[in-house]
Amino acid sequence: MERLVIDNSYYMVRKARILRVEQLGETEKLFELTLSSGQSLDHEPGQFIMVSLLGIGESPISIASAPNGKGSFDLCVRAAGKVTTYLHTLGEGAEISIRGPYGNGFPLRVLRGNDLLIIAGGLGIAPLRSLINYVIDNRRDFGKMHILLGCKSPQDMLFKNDIATWTQRSDVHFACTIDRAAPDWAGNVGVITTLIPGVDIEPERTVAAVVGPPVMYHFVIKELLAKHIPENRIMMSFERHMKCGVGKCGRCQFQHLYCCKDGPVFFYDGIKNLSEAL
Ligand SMILES: Cc1cc2nc3c(=O)[nH]c(=O)nc-3n(C[C@H](O)[C@H](O)[C@H](O)COP(=O)(O)OP(=O)(O)OC[C@H]3O[C@@H](n4cnc5c(N)ncnc54)[C@H](O)[C@@H]3O)c2cc1C
Ligand code: FES
Repeated sequence: MERLVIDNSYYMVRKARILRVEQLGETEKLFELTLSSGQSLDHEPGQFIMVSLLGIGESPISIASAPNGKGSFDLCVRAAGKVTTYLHTLGEGAEISIRGPYGNGFPLRVLRGNDLLIIAGGLGIAPLRSLINYVIDNRRDFGKMHILLGCKSPQDMLFKNDIATWTQRSDVHFACTIDRAAPDWAGNVGVITTLIPGVDIEPERTVAAVVGPPVMYHFVIKELLAKHIPENRIMMSFERHMKCGVGKCGRCQFQHLYCCKDGPVFFYDGIKNLSEAL
């Protein structure tokens, strides 16, 4: 009789070793990791992993690097509570546990061939950095790429090295704004929505990807609709408190959707009428 084989690797906790730690902002660190087994993480931009610290807890964290074929991956972690603060105490060589990658990620099949308007607020740049660098690595598969970044202050700007690279490229349009004027800042001042009217896009061939604090979505979507980007071409990544990360516990549920399994990336037309979504 044929045996039923169940693949449990999806749920399994795997060891990962910290290769490098870099202080990115006042409360944010970048962790470059590799799976201790030598396997590749095999993630897609926009997916997340559950970081498990024995005796402390588990938290969902976005994968901040593009798939690189080298077996390493980056996390950008803000010290916010139990798990993330403890993670900040760990250095090169330390081992942590992870599950995943989980979630749908940005739908690359849909995005290929389109122009992209990428809008990041604060820490929202973490999952979007994965998408941006994927597009750069596969530049011919995509149309124009506009990146708009909003930060509270120049000190809060994460991934300054990446930003320097993106700014220098002739095939990327990058613009940044900070919320309040600062002595060491000669660029745009104002909330991120102030950058949107000035972007030169063809709405019917543009897909917008928005990630940032919840308060940002309502105002950004309003501006994107004013630019005539269709509702089914506006996608955003959501954050919800999570436990299992795989659609079993209901912790991240809103209406009939599980943020961990059906998301975290959702198109606006699919969630705009769901209470609790935005
Ligand atoms: C898909 C996804 C991707 C994410 N990606 C990243 C990322 O790339 N980088 C990053 O730094 N963070 C990311 N986060 C956020 C991160 O998972 C949370 O900040 C997480 O709570 C941190 O875990 P912690 O144990 O350190 O903090 P916690 O101890 O959980 O506390 C974090 C904050 O949440 C509050 N809090 C805790 N529990 C509750 C509750 N039940 N109700 C209301 N408030 C509560 C705490 O008071 C505190 O202010 C992501 C979240 C999701 C869902
Ligand atoms: S975290 Fe358990 S269902 Fe989403």
